[in-house]
This record gives sequence, structure tokens and C-alpha cells, in this order.
Amino acid sequence: MADRGEPILQVRNLVKHFPLTQGILFKRQVGAVKAVDDVSFELYQGETLGIVGESGCGKSTVAKLLMRLEQPTAGQILYKGEDIARLSGRALKAVRRNIQMVFQDPYTSLNPRMTVGDIIGEPFDIHPEVAPKGDRRRKVRELLDVVGLNPEYINRYPHQFSGGQRQRIGIARGLALNPEIIVCDEPVSALDVSVQAQVINLMERLQDEFELSYLFIAHDLSIVRHISDRVAVMYLGKLAEVGTDAQIYDHPTHPYTQALLSAVPQPDPAARATRERIILTGDVPSPANPPSGCRFRTRCWKAQDKCAKEVPLLAVPERYRDSDSGARHASACHFAEEKDIVHA
Ligand SMILES: Nc1ncnc2c1ncn2[C@@H]1O[C@H](COP(=O)(O)OP(=O)(O)OP(=O)(O)O)[C@@H](O)[C@H]1O
Ligand SMILES: [Mg+2]
Repeated sequence: MADRGEPILQVRNLVKHFPLTQGILFKRQVGAVKAVDDVSFELYQGETLGIVGESGCGKSTVAKLLMRLEQPTAGQILYKGEDIARLSGRALKAVRRNIQMVFQDPYTSLNPRMTVGDIIGEPFDIHPEVAPKGDRRRKVRELLDVVGLNPEYINRYPHQFSGGQRQRIGIARGLALNPEIIVCDEPVSALDVSVQAQVINLMERLQDEFELSYLFIAHDLSIVRHISDRVAVMYLGKLAEVGTDAQIYDHPTHPYTQALLSAVPQPDPAARATRERIILTGDVPSPANPPSGCRFRTRCWKAQDKCAKEVPLLAVPERYRDSDSGARHASACHFAEEKDIVHA
């Protein structure tokens, strides 16, 4: 795992509210979808930070905010100390080169009418300084080779490739500008299970080779554990818990994390027998009208009065602060308590 120096990316109190409007001619705002609501985390050089959480909890919105595909409502995104949430024009373009994205669906994210060479080389149109015109084809061939595709495929079209190969093309495009950070939003979710491992292995190899930092978003908990150094658990626009993969998976402190893990299928009968299964009642509330206090309290078996009144801040619980293992294991729960999980 990466040595901890300064974080390469620091997200502070990030907020994204999408206005809810009513009326056709005269739109008026009647509320807001609180998709991301006061989210803070760090990404360190060379590490993989996983983000997990159920559908609609705001994972993709975080990714889009980092890429500035969405404008934050509030908060800071510090890249090497500079707030990219406030940048525009040339300064934004310069930073963007260093933060690239790999999308979920390799079937829709590649333009079907462009050749693979043009798709991978497209970032060079915006940043010609990286590859002068005469050098582009050579660069693209090199990128194809790096992601394990035959450089002779340079003139083919996306439909001539399998799903896994298409995601390799998406990754090659993400690497074209030699970025430092890659934001991966469910990069293998659309692929067959047998292909997922190959793409994950490729991503791990590339991370070492190019010293990349990954923000890796997925809802599959076992894939996230496999690839991540640290994991952030998200619920309804907020982070519930952040820690190393061992802290999150083996000793989670937030009831939501504990419930998520208890729902992972357990192949080993012995582990299954000792595992207490937590069934969450009720649906995820609407992000347009989240519960007061702790957003998870309406589904939480530990909830008390305090949980309706006070928003629990993401912090290392008092009693774990002095322990080596507990330091940096943050939880947004008034009643955070370690629970040991036995895996097969
Ligand atoms: N452009 C938008 N306008 C209004 N609401 C939006 C917009 N984009 C996202 N939302 C809402 O914000 C919330 C978070 O969405 P987001 O796509 O970030 O979730 P997610 O965690 O990526 O979910 P999934 O696992 O399904 O991809 C959802 O309630 C979604 O409906
Ligand atoms: Mg998403």
C-alpha cells in the first residue's frame, strides 16, 4: 500500500443538491434532491479508495463532481492543495488532464462511429501538447499494447470487440493523458463475472506501472475489498464509515455497514452458522426528504432519541482513538461499536 504523504485529493464538505421543480412554463423550485450532502474524504498517492453503497446513495454524483461534470453546490475539492471546484478555463483544463474517468458501461460510453484509434486518441485533441499530430498513431498503438489489446486493431470499431475488450479501450483512453488519478465508476459491473477479474487484474497492474491513485466506485462488496486499500461506505448522500479494508470488512462499527456485510452471500456453512443476518426493514428514504439527524436511523435497530436530533459526524469514536488499529477508522454513528465479522 501507498506510503501516506500528503493526500493527492482532499474532498471537504462536498454538497450537491439537484433542484426539484414544478410547473411547465413557470418552473419554481419546490425542494431539492440532496444527492451528496457534506461528504469529506482524502485520496492518497498510489492508493485505491473504494466507495460502496446502495443504488441512489450518491456515488456517481461524487464521481461527476470530481470530474467537474457537475458543479458542486458547496464544498471544496482540493487537488494538491488547489480547489478545483472553483477553477475554470485554462486552469481547469490543466487539472483535468490529471484526473480521468473510466465509465461503467463500455457499450454506451464508446462512440460506435469512431475507430478505436480515434476514441483512444480523442483526448489528444484537447491536449495536443501530450502527443503532436505526427506521433498520435504510435502513442495509440502503445496504449493498446499497454491494456493488452493487439495494436493492429487500431482501425476497428467498438462493435467488433467484446465487453471486456471494450472496457480495455475505455481504460486506454483514460490513460492517454498520463493522469495521476482515475475515477472508476462501476468499471466492471456491466461485464460477465469471468471477465471482471481480468479487467480488475489489468487495473491493478496499471496502477503499479503508472503510479495511479484510484477512486473505485462499486456496489459489489467483494470486488471493492479485493482492489481497495481503504473503503468508504455511503448512505443517502453521506459517508457512514471510512477505514482500511480490514477495518470495514472485519470490524465494521456502523450499523449500516454491518447490515450490508451480513447480506453478502456466505458460501462456507460454518461461517454462515456463526453469522448473524441483519435484515433491514423499510426502504431507503428519499434523498429529497431525508430523515432528521442520522439518515440511517429509520432503518436502524440501535436508534434512540439522540439519532433523530443530532447529525452524527464522521469521526473516530472516542474510545478507539488511542488504539493503533482504531485510529483513522471513522464512523458516523452516535453508538458506533466494533462488530467482528467472520468471512469464509
Ligand atoms: N441530474 C440529476 N437531477 C436530479 N437528480 C439527480 C440527478 N443525478 C442524480 N440524481 C439523484 O441523486 C441521487 C444520487 O444519484 P447517483 O446516480 O449519484 O447514485 P448512485 O449511488 O451512483 O446509484 P447507482 O448505484 O444506481 O449508480 C439519486 O436520488 C438520483 O436520482
Ligand atoms: Mg451510479
